[in-house]
Amino acid sequence: MLSNRLNEVYKLIKEGMVVADIGTDHAYLPCALVTSGKCDKVYACDVAIGPLKQAIKTIETLNLTDKISLVESNGLAKVSDDVNCICICGMGYHTVEMILNNDIDKVLKYQKIIIQINKNTDLLRKWISDHNLLITDETIVYEGNKFYEIIAFSNEYHDTYSEQQIILGYILPTLMSDTYIKYLENKISKYQLINEDSQSIEIKNEIIMINNLLNKHL
Ligand SMILES: C[S@@+](CC[C@H](N)C(=O)[O-])C[C@H]1O[C@@H](n2cnc3c(N)ncnc32)[C@H](O)[C@@H]1O
Repeated sequence: MLSNRLNEVYKLIKEGMVVADIGTDHAYLPCALVTSGKCDKVYACDVAIGPLKQAIKTIETLNLTDKISLVESNGLAKVSDDVNCICICGMGYHTVEMILNNDIDKVLKYQKIIIQINKNTDLLRKWISDHNLLITDETIVYEGNKFYEIIAFSNEYHDTYSEQQIILGYILPTLMSDTYIKYLENKISKYQLINEDSQSIEIKNEIIMINNLLNKHL
């Protein structure tokens, strides 16, 4: 039932964690977590009625009402205190930033926060860096003609990250998976469509960083 994107998120959740899926929509992730037995209790949270109705439908169809609690919540506002892992997937960076900033005290208590945003992952890493938090996992998947980066962090301390780590990743460049290499090559191809004179300093710097990384890997 899970897409490759949500399956990567699923894999990052440790057995027995008490998870809140923020912006759950159809509740596929919570259902997969309890169906497989990885988690005993999951909170499926959403701010909007339509998605909550969609979630109820999935949960009832799969007979999982005793294991999944549905919560109408704007971000983390109504998330219960027993939660130790949150997932926020399929939203834009600015919504995620607002959710994290609105309840920063809660964020700093969670063991694991897993975020999948469709773009602007550099802004997310900058946020993590500014809060001195440890990036614990980074993966990338290619699905439906798009690359999706998934970033997880914990409440452990980490120094601020370098510019390259913020832009290209902290763990992804140490793994150099085939998908990540394709992602880097794809970025270069897109930048090459821009006339060199029109390329910003940031793009020129990024091209240099990517080429260095790719050359080191060869
Ligand atoms: C595109 S869906 C993503 C569904 C699922 N997480 C996924 O990745 O496939 C985004 C969901 O986030 C919900 N959402 C947006 N802002 C939210 C907020 N501040 N708090 C909780 N949910 C929110 C929307 O109602 C919607 O159901």
